[in-house]
Parts: sequence; structure tokens; C-alpha cells
Amino acid sequence: MTLPQTIPLFKGRRILLGITGSIAAYKAADLASKLTQAGAQVEVLLSEAAQKFISPLTFQSVTGRRAYTDKDLWSTEAHILHVGLAEYADLLIIAPATANTLAKIAHGQADSLITITALAAKCPMLVAPAMDANMFEQPVTQSNIETLIGRGVAIVGPVEGRMASGQIGLGRFIEPDELLGHIRLALGRHGPLEGLRVIVTAAGTQEPIDSVRSIANSSSGKQGYALAQAAIDRGAEVTLISGVSHLSPPIGAEVISLRTAAEMQQAVLEHVEKTDVLLMAAAVADFRPIKVHVEKLKKSKGIPDIKLEPTEDILGLVAQKQEANGWPRLSVGFAAESENLVDNARAKLEEKNLSLIVANDISLPDAGFEVDTNRVTLIDSEGGVQELPLMSKVEVSEVVLQRVIQLLETLE
Ligand SMILES: Cc1cc2nc3c(=O)[nH]c(=O)nc-3n(C[C@H](O)[C@H](O)[C@H](O)COP(=O)(O)O)c2cc1C
Repeated sequence: MTLPQTIPLFKGRRILLGITGSIAAYKAADLASKLTQAGAQVEVLLSEAAQKFISPLTFQSVTGRRAYTDKDLWSTEAHILHVGLAEYADLLIIAPATANTLAKIAHGQADSLITITALAAKCPMLVAPAMDANMFEQPVTQSNIETLIGRGVAIVGPVEGRMASGQIGLGRFIEPDELLGHIRLALGRHGPLEGLRVIVTAAGTQEPIDSVRSIANSSSGKQGYALAQAAIDRGAEVTLISGVSHLSPPIGAEVISLRTAAEMQQAVLEHVEKTDVLLMAAAVADFRPIKVHVEKLKKSKGIPDIKLEPTEDILGLVAQKQEANGWPRLSVGFAAESENLVDNARAKLEEKNLSLIVANDISLPDAGFEVDTNRVTLIDSEGGVQELPLMSKVEVSEVVLQRVIQLLETLE
């Protein structure tokens, strides 16, 4: 996951990042840097052992803030440092967490800046262990982890892989990018969409012609995956129904991967019950071959005569369901248009009973399929038209989710 710009979820949030004495400590510098770039105020705390692997100066340089060590605990400069740090924190992360620190915090031991702060903090805690597989497998380590989970601490990782000792097994520090996904999940939990169910459809469908060929489109899934992440950032329970995409789904989303328009229709209709918001960002095929050849078509047999039929109108079927039982409470459609953008999008909005439509002009090189940016116009059911400037797909998602929250408020 790349975080190219400030993310509203992180803006002004105070994150304590405790780093302990593992070889993986150097990876925490990347994490601290990404969190800072995303807009968080990152306060770094290093154990004595952590400083054998990486210096406070590294963290000071990437966060622009002083990094604290045990020496600061006893200094007269700050007024009871650990209490001050703990009091205003939104999240305490210990990453990497050694077996030693896990044991200490599991038992309430408080003999270092990190462990005292962990005891004083009332905010959610996220711990990412890293150690040799033998250390991780030890019943005592496992029992410490169970104790922490029982107390509501989120344990993230470790993962399988090669460790610095040469051992291969379970104990490797989770990659910072993935850890970031877990941090977003933890930070967003009590956001404005807490307790609400959101379905996002994303990426393009493929309609098979024969055993190896299909009719596809070039949708990458970038916009849909960004929308799913933005909904998770706001505390929603997200189901991501995805066509073919190589992207990693956001941490915390329930993912349903599929290929064809028919499969997408089935998945959407099955899940739409009791769903608050449906965001239909997938590029669903409009046509599919009537006949799918089981074997690969032979070139020597000449140009095949491929007859097409229309695929299901998923949003149309959703609109019928919505009329019958009220679910989803709110539908948002996406229209990729190459001409008459606003008129075509408005017609779709009315026909499909949508609350909002996000229209993008795919005739422009910097908008639409595959690229990271989009130039969209938001049209709502009240007739409001909001033309947005060129933005990243991540930024578009933020704006769309803000609008969704406003629209939900009007329904209450
Ligand atoms: C080279 C080296 C690498 C180490 N790597 C780890 C590690 O990955 N995980 C771990 O739990 N302990 C590791 N240790 C042991 C810890 O550094 C040691 O238990 C230390 O007391 C931890 O202190 P802290 O938890 O306060 O940082 C390592 C020790 C050395 C010398």
C-alpha cells in the first residue's frame, strides 16, 4: 500500500510507536515515515536494546520529532513523560515487539519507557511480534500473546518466512505496508460509519469466449479498492466484491473474488440484504458471448463467429430489491462515459434509483481506467452537480465517502 498524500484518518492523530530490540527494528523507520507522511503525529519510543539496532536520530529525521529513550524517563525536562505520552495517544503500536517486551506487558511489568507507557495508556494497543520461530513457538510466548489478546490487544503477525538467523518459520516481522493496513483498521474502528455495512464492487469482469480467451476491459480496480479502504477508515464493515485485479485488498475487508458479470450479479444480490451502502465501482461487461467453447478455438479453423448477448443489469436488479425491502439504504453508481458525461450519468442515476453517481470522462488520458488519477463529476438525486478537479483515486474516494456520510444523515 502506498500513501502518496495525507489521509484524513491520520490527520492530527497521535500515534505512539514503541520499538524494541529486534533485528527488524530498522523496518520501523519505514513505518514511522509512512505514518508521518499520512499526517499522523508520531511519537517514537526506543528500548535500550532497540538502540543497538537503530538510532533515535533516524526516527527524529523521518518524523521531525524527538524520539524518546529510557534516559528521557528520568530526565527533569518533561513532566512525567510516560503519563503525558499515554494520555493523549490515539493508538499505541509496539513494532517490532520482542518476546521480552511481550512478556513484560502481558504481566504488567513496567521497568522501561515503553512498558510503563503501555501500562499507563488507555488507548487501543497494536503489537507486531518479531522473533526467531523457536522463541515464538515457546508455550510461554504463546501464553503471553493469548493474555494480551484476551485484554483486547491487536496482535499483528508474525508471518512465515526467512529470519535473520537463517531459520525459516513463523516469526518474521509483518511488512510495514501490511502493518499500515492493520493500523488503519484499528484507528478507524469508531469512525462515522461504525456498525454500518458497505459493499464495494471493483475492477473489471471477464466474459469467457473459450477455455483461454475472454472479453475483458482495462479496469484495474484502483478506484474501487480505494473506496473500500476509505470506508474501512471510517469504521464500516466492508465487503469488497472484486472482478479481476492484481491489487492487494485493504486489510479488514471481506473479499469476494470473481470473474464474470453473472457471478458479480449473484454476489451483489446475495449480500445486498441488510447493507447500508452499495458502491458500484466495478466495470461490469455489458455483453458476453452466448456460447462459451470448452476447448481453445483453433486459428486454423478460421475467424470464429462470436455472438453476444447482454449481461444482467445489476444496478437495475438492486433498484428492484431496494423498492421491495429497502436494502441497500443508499446506492452509489459509477459511470464511465466518453461523451455527454453529465446527461448520460444523470439518466443512469434516475433509471437505477441511485442517491449519487460518480461520472468520469474516460476520453481524458489522466482519468478513468488503469491510471492513478481521476477527474469526476458527482451528481446527486436532488440535481446537485459537483465537478471535481483532477485528483488521485484515493482523494476521489475520500470525497465520495464524505458525501455518502452526508446522504446517510439525510435518511435518518
Ligand atoms: C542480534 C540480536 C538480535 C535479536 N533479535 C531479536 C528478535 O528479533 N526478537 C526478540 O524477541 N529478541 C531478539 N533479541 C533479543 C532481545 O534484543 C533481548 O531479549 C532484549 O533484552 C530485548 O529488550 P527489549 O524488549 O527491551 O527491547 C535479539 C538479540 C540480539 C543480540
